[in-house]
Amino acid sequence: MDVRIVKSEARSSYVPSSSWRRLTTLGLAIGLVCGSLLTPLAAQAEDISPQLIDQGHRLAVAADCQACHTDVLHGGKPFAGGYSIHSPLGVIYATNITPSRSAGIGDYSEAEFARALRQGVRRDGAHLYPAMPYTSYTQLTDTDIHALYAYFMHGVQPVDVQAHQTHLPFPFSIRASMAVWNALYLRDRRFRPDTSRTAEVNRGAYLAGALEHCDACHTPRNAMMAESSSRPLAGGMVGEWFAPNISSDPVSGIGGWTDEQLFSYLKTGRAAGMAQAAGGMAEAVEHSLQYLPDDDIRALIAYLRTTAPQRDPGESKPAFTYGAAASAEPSLRGLSGHHDREALRGGAQLYSGFCASCHQPDGSGSANQAYPSLFHNTATGLPNPSDLVAAMLNGVDRTVDGRQVLMPRFDRQSYVAQLSDEQIAEIANYVLQHYGNSSQRVTPGDVFEARGGGKLPLIARLQPDIVPAMLGGVLVLVLILWLVWRRWHRRFQG
Ligand code: HEC
Ligand code: HEC
Ligand code: HEC
Repeated sequence: MDVRIVKSEARSSYVPSSSWRRLTTLGLAIGLVCGSLLTPLAAQAEDISPQLIDQGHRLAVAADCQACHTDVLHGGKPFAGGYSIHSPLGVIYATNITPSRSAGIGDYSEAEFARALRQGVRRDGAHLYPAMPYTSYTQLTDTDIHALYAYFMHGVQPVDVQAHQTHLPFPFSIRASMAVWNALYLRDRRFRPDTSRTAEVNRGAYLAGALEHCDACHTPRNAMMAESSSRPLAGGMVGEWFAPNISSDPVSGIGGWTDEQLFSYLKTGRAAGMAQAAGGMAEAVEHSLQYLPDDDIRALIAYLRTTAPQRDPGESKPAFTYGAAASAEPSLRGLSGHHDREALRGGAQLYSGFCASCHQPDGSGSANQAYPSLFHNTATGLPNPSDLVAAMLNGVDRTVDGRQVLMPRFDRQSYVAQLSDEQIAEIANYVLQHYGNSSQRVTPGDVFEARGGGKLPLIARLQPDIVPAMLGGVLVLVLILWLVWRRWHRRFQG
């Protein structure tokens, strides 16, 4: 109390009059308002601490912003955009989200940044395509948005180069059409912890749903490319890759995995005798999951264990239990007593020539499993052989803890061998027959489709027909109007 009196006395001693004081207060207020309107960044910069920026950085890693917004393949600068996402509707380029004012998001206010992340609306009001996972980020808390914003404005180097522009075919070129999609499928809600669950499970749910967006890949999508809310985490196609069922189900999902196996898979991208991460999963591990604190990985696992089990009809045993060691090598070399004609068919020879050097003639992989066994491997045991085909086409490329894991690709960009649709289908069927789920078969047509990025959803298949259909509709309408007009004209003339 004493202190306050002294202070006010001291102030009044150098402020000439109370009216002057009021004027300065008013001036100060106006200045503050104008200042905050004109330079929101500067005003906010005051509460930006290194800790907040660091927290934002960790969130950006957990939310895997890097995977899409950095064009790693072509040596792109961090967050400068350019990475192309081959969506079924066409190529969508991730934009430059560095704080550059000319080419990036330097002019975004925190509110505009929040709107882009949660509602998928750009600063200029245009809608973003859901290739940007705002349907997941919509759950982000205010605190996390604040930290992310601080990081992107103050912790990222601005890059003044525009990223590629996205040009989708009509009618998707009209971004406003996304407003209709959002009205149907965007659940614009923040994450709310479930008080009946432990803090660890809630942390895992937030990580999985809001930040890591596991569901964006692992939940099947409907004809409109929206996540199907009735079968969460039951497995979905991501281009030519299949993101398997990771619900808690012991047969179709991860219920039969131990905590150690799941931990190893999420942290390093491989769990010996179970599975390895390629495609989008390799990216998630490489850019995000490997950097998560161990507690966060454990929280993710705790959460996965609580998810509703999704059993695929017709499945009776887990994908990682299929197959056994088998070698066609003796008959291929003419060593076996009776000449096994079956073994000389294409698949066995092709496997021997292109795969056996690493995965071993009997499919058991190398001793340390750096070249994995092809039996007891979900890639060959799943009721969907897409990952086996996609791995042959695209190879496996994942850098974890500074070490690269590499399987060569065998598509047309291959430096090792460019295999045809028929050859890849033959190898796949040989592998499925001996090491995997022998109820599955791959046709050359499947391989052709995988090369083009996988099966198209209905909305994309309809796209080429939309313009003719609209023109046709207009023609029919004109014809009807003309007929009506003619009848009406005749009646009143006659
Ligand atoms: C799965 C890929 C993907 C991930 C992960 C992703 N983005 Fe995006 N983002 C995109 C794409 C693609 C676009 C452009 C979409 C378009 O053009 O409609 C985009 C656009 C944006 C925009 C709009 C920028 C502009 O052009 O004005 C912002 C802001 C943004 N992202 C921020 C983020 C942040 C922050 C993260 C991490 C929390 C993130 N994104 C993670 C794909 C992604
Ligand atoms: C960008 C898409 C994408 C995202 C995001 C993603 N995954 Fe995956 N996931 C995949 C694909 C594709 C595979 C198959 C990889 C392979 O076999 O090479 C996979 C495989 C897995 C597997 C192995 C399943 C099996 O039966 O082999 C687990 C477990 C898994 N993911 C968990 C997660 C979790 C947990 C998250 C979120 C933290 C996540 N994934 C995020 C695409 C994704
Ligand atoms: C030069 C060695 C090498 C050759 C040749 C090779 N692979 Fe691989 N393969 C690997 C490595 C390395 C991995 C990934 C291991 C990891 O992720 O830990 C792998 C992974 C796989 C996977 C699992 C992919 C996934 O997504 O889960 C399959 C299936 C596979 N290989 C099949 C084949 C087939 C079939 C051939 C022959 C056409 C072949 N490989 C040739 C080294 C090789």
